[in-house]
Amino acid sequence: MSKLDLSVNIAGIQWKNPITTAAGTFSARASGEFYGISKLGAVTTKAVTLNPWLGNQTPRIAETYGGMLNSVGLHNFGVDHYIDFELPYLEQFDIPIIANIAGHNPEEYREIVERLNSTSVAMYEINISCPNIAENGMNYGAFPEQAALITSVVKKAAKKPIIIKLSPNVTDIASIAKAVEDAGADGISMINTLLGMRIDVRSRKATLANKMGGLSGPAIKPVALRMVYQVRKVVNIPIIGMGGITTGEDAAEFIMAGADALAIGTAALVMPTAPMDILGELRAVMQREGFNTLYELRQAFKEQDERLTTGRKQW
Ligand SMILES: Cc1cc2nc3c(=O)[nH]c(=O)nc-3n(C[C@H](O)[C@H](O)[C@H](O)COP(=O)(O)O)c2cc1C
Repeated sequence: MSKLDLSVNIAGIQWKNPITTAAGTFSARASGEFYGISKLGAVTTKAVTLNPWLGNQTPRIAETYGGMLNSVGLHNFGVDHYIDFELPYLEQFDIPIIANIAGHNPEEYREIVERLNSTSVAMYEINISCPNIAENGMNYGAFPEQAALITSVVKKAAKKPIIIKLSPNVTDIASIAKAVEDAGADGISMINTLLGMRIDVRSRKATLANKMGGLSGPAIKPVALRMVYQVRKVVNIPIIGMGGITTGEDAAEFIMAGADALAIGTAALVMPTAPMDILGELRAVMQREGFNTLYELRQAFKEQDERLTTGRKQW
């Protein structure tokens, strides 16, 4: 009999396996047509804001090689609608609910968290990284001091663990990760989308009405993996890794790089069963490689990596 144990504990919350959904790419009502939602480790919902946000103008989706661009702009119906209509539906599943939260300023983040404190939400994922909400695509997640400020404001207000979602659109992601850990984050999720662009040569116009958008999907996987690897070296809190995960082999790479859990986004827009397929493939990879736990998988890489770093010759 297999001794495989894929359960994880993320900031005190027990998940039956490491797979969650990436914010903004999942609807329980739609995915529930394809698989049992309770089989996931956790569900992460789309960004919720204090008041309804209309999002950006259309077109706001464009395909790219190995991925897609989106400039949806956090279109949602606000926190009251989330509490009245989204949460009651999700509560039927035996699974931790992670609420992805976005705001224009620290006060908005604080107010949303205060509203959600008395609900069934198990954890908060604080989106400081969406490139669509601020001028020029810049955001709080781009500066260690700003990222730390939002973290400490939310931490004071939150009665549940807070996961800070980092932006990859920075020069030194490790310094931002360290700043949010020092400011009280209970975990980190990474990465959000990479700022990108397409131009329609025939019409002489940017393909997206917003001109720029967030790149996601397999094209960003090597960047995401590299960032998880760098951040794991400087923080001790759990990391939820994401960015182009499409196969069980991808999932194993993220665990080896230092992730404790994984979120599946664009892959599930292409194939709704992707989170379940990837979970099954991860199990198969672990059995093939002779690992019973995610810890063993992570350690196997870490030991080799440290040995290779120590023994490396300068050419
Ligand atoms: C259509 C779309 C909507 C998204 N909406 C959100 C969102 O509401 N909040 C958030 O933090 N990230 C959002 N993201 C980013 C994803 O959660 C994820 O970080 C990113 O897409 C990388 O993972 P992937 O390559 O597996 O999609 C969105 C991504 C896409 C493609």
